[in-house]
Amino acid sequence: SKLKITTVVNSSIEYIHINNYEIKTWYKSPYPLSTNKNKILYICELCLKNSNSRQTHYNHQFKCTNHRNNNNIKTPPGNQIYFAQINGLSIWEIDGRENIEYCRNLCLLSKLFLNSKTLYYDVEPFIFYVLMKQTKDSYDYNFIGYFSKEKSNSLNYNLSCILTLPIYQRMGYGNFLMEFSYLLSRREFKLGTPEKPLSDLGLLSYRNFWKIKIAKTLLLIKNAFEQSSSSSSSSSSSSSQAQLTLKTITLNDLANLTGMTTTDVIFGLEQLKLLYYHTPSVPSPASSQFSPNKEEVKIKIKIKSWSILQELVDNWDSKNYPNVEPELLIWKPMI
Ligand code: ACO
Ligand code: ZN
Repeated sequence: SKLKITTVVNSSIEYIHINNYEIKTWYKSPYPLSTNKNKILYICELCLKNSNSRQTHYNHQFKCTNHRNNNNIKTPPGNQIYFAQINGLSIWEIDGRENIEYCRNLCLLSKLFLNSKTLYYDVEPFIFYVLMKQTKDSYDYNFIGYFSKEKSNSLNYNLSCILTLPIYQRMGYGNFLMEFSYLLSRREFKLGTPEKPLSDLGLLSYRNFWKIKIAKTLLLIKNAFEQSSSSSSSSSSSSSQAQLTLKTITLNDLANLTGMTTTDVIFGLEQLKLLYYHTPSVPSPASSQFSPNKEEVKIKIKIKSWSILQELVDNWDSKNYPNVEPELLIWKPMI
């Protein structure tokens, strides 16, 4: 049912103009032929309409009034399911079935920065989660990035494709989107993993994500045990009690706490160099293999130094990247 785009690949788009930035493109994307002549493609960051002429683009900016919020500010289509006052970040849920043109334009845009993925013209099986940031002065919404998610799949995929616009990369927004994709999985009572294969940048970012996520989760568990044991008994050392009780933590516990599949939990543990035994061997995250059966996998971890984990987390937190606040998500699974 998936149709591949067969339009001639546009080789002439060298820059996209979006939010008054000109961004050099990385790869080719099959934009329709009518936009082929110009090297700069103008994109409206609200409705993603594109044009090859500056004039048409600026005229459109005034006309683009499809969607407005209660304060009469132009917004992207779909429902705002997350908004954080503190940093102006919002997530918009856009159904590929309801906003076909927007979603196709989003796929075309992301293809400019993606080599590996096959682009599908058929956006209807997907939901798109778009990250916008409101500016403090004008309250305008700026497009930061997005991820897509297949509405139903049998392989636990909670993210199909992810993009942060290059001008916003290395600022923690990719991490934010990944965190958000796992939050949705937890709300669905599912474990999730990104669709394979990952791009080089996707792999780098996920490796870092899994590592930090597991480190934070282990520290949370340890602190919870320490608190409960220090309140229940005052005689013995709380940290040795925590060690004892922590032994009962299973791979499934870590998966359920994070929303990550057990395979990805193992990758996280591996990144942290905590894993000293596992069977059978784990497939690489870049490969197309999916989670092995939970029953088959046995692991042992050894935490030699909690302070190394704490330092890693502190160092990450000190970057002050935006965090996902789960209580700000107003959302129920679609199906
Ligand atoms: N080099 C080295 N490490 C990186 C890089 C990089 N270019 N990008 C991310 N990381 C790692 C770093 O540890 C980084 O932390 P740091 O910047 O403090 O060192 C951490 O990941 C988090 O990075 P973010 O800032 O959260 O990630 P970003 O917003 O830049 O987005 C993304 C990452 C979405 C992969 C972006 O690079 C992108 O859009 N790339 C083009 C499209 C793409 O390849 N998407 C993934 C395809 S795979 C899939 O969709 C399932
Ligand atoms: Zn528009």
